[in-house]
Amino acid sequence: MFLKINQRNYHVTDLIVRIACVALVIYWVMPWRFASHYEYLQRNEIQRELVEQVTSNISMQRMPACEYSDILADNVITYLSQYREHVLRGEEILPGGEYFPEDCSARFSTAIIVPYRKREEQLHAFLVYMHNYLRQQRIHYRIFLVEQYDQKPFNRAKLFNIGSVIAAELEFPCLILHDVDLLPMNLGQLYACTQKPRHMSSALDIFRFTLPYGGLFGGVVAIQTHQYRFINGMSNLYEGWGGEDDDFYARVCSHKLGICRFDPSYSTYTMMPHKQEKKNENRIKLLRSGYKRFEIDGLNSLVYTEKERRLHSLFTHILVET
Ligand code: UDP
Ligand code: BGC
Ligand code: MN
Repeated sequence: MFLKINQRNYHVTDLIVRIACVALVIYWVMPWRFASHYEYLQRNEIQRELVEQVTSNISMQRMPACEYSDILADNVITYLSQYREHVLRGEEILPGGEYFPEDCSARFSTAIIVPYRKREEQLHAFLVYMHNYLRQQRIHYRIFLVEQYDQKPFNRAKLFNIGSVIAAELEFPCLILHDVDLLPMNLGQLYACTQKPRHMSSALDIFRFTLPYGGLFGGVVAIQTHQYRFINGMSNLYEGWGGEDDDFYARVCSHKLGICRFDPSYSTYTMMPHKQEKKNENRIKLLRSGYKRFEIDGLNSLVYTEKERRLHSLFTHILVET
């Protein structure tokens, strides 16, 4: 009798352990362990969320306004070899990496800000692909490469702050903060701002096209210039890898701006391979106390030296000491 109960207990325990192991394997292998349900704008909701705003030179054009509904409806795949190999019709691009369509008036002006240091191969691939991609969107854009020209640990957030100041001086109403190694794969991810700041790269191939956590706000983000100023930009204190995008998300939330994302089929990105950068050991500590510094650390405490500004054929190059 005693033996029987013991044996049955053993079987039950064994079964539970087996089920737990299988569940654990499924958890690791399957993508549902990522933020499974997150809110996003459905394809039919995207257009009305876009904020139409252009710089004054574009607003003075006397052409019919450009149409975007086909781009949004079709959401075609653009990650094709013909767009990756070389810049097509390069003569259309203005010095400094600026473009606007000539047969219609663009309804969006966007400054694409890219923080950069020593990623030559990625930069080349980025510029080729992005100019081929962006011109198909019929927007007005300019690519600003903000290069950290010192030996200090890389400071991604500070480079975005610097880029935002320059883009604001040039009247750009919309900022897209963009890693140099990320390429959008579908045309429907319009490089324009939405009412709410938008996390654009939410379906990234290295995360198997799913979102690791609901608060991920790195990679590629669109934010209106006045909103970026309102939240005091990003923190200047994150040196090395990690945390600065989480701090940025916390700022957006604490100022009650909210965020949005597009349907995942519009948010597909691929990341060019690279080694993992050295992690900032201090990032968790900084992040925990970050809320205390939202109003004192950011655009209003930004100090840097601009060493040089050059208009290259595919981008505006800003060299800075941080
Ligand atoms: N970056 C750079 N040089 C560096 C480190 C970072 O240009 O030495 C820029 C680059 O734009 C890169 C971004 O910062 O895409 C984010 O860094 P990383 O790609 O290492 O982070 P991940 O998002 O892949 O974790
Ligand atoms: C880091 C972020 C990073 C994210 C995804 C987080 O742990 O704090 O900076 O973007 O991981 O890699
Ligand atoms: Mn990367």
